[in-house]
Amino acid sequence: MDLAYLAEWANLLIRWLHLVAGIAWIGTSFYFIGLDNQLDPPRDGNPRVTGEQWSIHGGGFYHKQKYAVAPERLPEKLHWFKWEAYWTWISGFSLFVLIYWGSASTYLVDPQVLDMAPWVAVLVSAAMLAGGWVVYDLICRSTWAEDETKLSIAMVGLLVVAAFVACHLFSGRGAFLQVGAMTGTIMVANVAMVIMPGQKKMVAAMQAGQEPDPKYGRWGKQRSVHNTYLTLPVLFLMISPHYPMTWSHPFNWVILLAVALAGALVRQYFVSRQFGRNPIILPAAATAVVVGLMVVLRPAPAPSLAGVEVPTMAEVQAISANHCAGCHAARPTFEGIAVAPKGVMLETPQQLRRWAQAMRQQVQTEAMPPGNLTEMTAEERTKILAWIAAGAPAQ
Ligand code: HEC
Repeated sequence: MDLAYLAEWANLLIRWLHLVAGIAWIGTSFYFIGLDNQLDPPRDGNPRVTGEQWSIHGGGFYHKQKYAVAPERLPEKLHWFKWEAYWTWISGFSLFVLIYWGSASTYLVDPQVLDMAPWVAVLVSAAMLAGGWVVYDLICRSTWAEDETKLSIAMVGLLVVAAFVACHLFSGRGAFLQVGAMTGTIMVANVAMVIMPGQKKMVAAMQAGQEPDPKYGRWGKQRSVHNTYLTLPVLFLMISPHYPMTWSHPFNWVILLAVALAGALVRQYFVSRQFGRNPIILPAAATAVVVGLMVVLRPAPAPSLAGVEVPTMAEVQAISANHCAGCHAARPTFEGIAVAPKGVMLETPQQLRRWAQAMRQQVQTEAMPPGNLTEMTAEERTKILAWIAAGAPAQ
């Protein structure tokens, strides 16, 4: 079994794990934020209990109580939530290394953006992953963090800089994933470096018979709230490779920010609903952003195709053989590609006709060939588009 084939399996298995862990993590995160926001005043006499909720799920009744700071005695058994977050990061980082670092020349570097050696791109990418967390954490620990508005401005500023820098260093697709990975890293580091250590200190204080310091609870809560606003934007960035229209635009960094904004607005709406409010302006604004993007990103009309002669199937096959079928073939010859990506084979006339519409999207946005590795010319692209516009004739 060759390496590229094994890498394909690694890709599948790690991605599967990443999805499962991510669902578990974000699910718990949404659940606890929602629970916190929907607590009712306690009816029971314990003065330490600040809120409670009754719920019904899976055929059972549940009664949850929240303690301000901590209960009087440490319970014998305490459930912690961390492995969901850790495994999401471990699997996500592995996938990023496998794909974006492992094939940096394909996925991370675009010579039209910046001609970087693949190893340089990997180093820059790693530095940004670590640097993003360091800067974010410094801001949260600075005096800025005492003022909600200032902190929010700093956070948005950080995201703007990250998007701008990434989109001017890496391929559009690589840049979106880079920003997604940076944000995901910040979210997990919040759990590993702030929330967990704080909780451990609280538990240790209780074991020593002392009252835990409430500041750890506050810090943990602040990071947990940041995480909740980042979830929707991060999930978009993670699925963005499927949507070249978003990252192939010259102002892709603005588009990244606009989608992130729409995601955060929607999340804010969920949270407001949990408080019993219904600020319909939030989803309306998110919808307006998305509709605006639909208009801005609509494919350019292709007047250039008007005078273009429709190429013959033999010509189309020849262009594909040069630029696509190295990867998109029953037996790919391109190094590192073991099976036709996404099952798309572009060798025979039947295959070319079957995938014509999918090809149009990829060729027009210049998403394919990745990083224009095979140096497909504008003229060749126009020919393929003219052939598809003419209904992908078989002759
Ligand atoms: C260097 C290898 C390589 C070359 C050359 C290449 N592709 Fe791809 N193609 C890929 C990979 C890898 C994917 C899967 C992308 C992903 O992981 O999302 C892909 C995906 C696709 C898809 C499916 C997109 C989707 O998300 O469903 C289409 C269609 C496609 N390529 C068309 C083309 C066309 C047309 C050409 C030639 C102009 C081409 N490709 C050249 C590697 C290549």
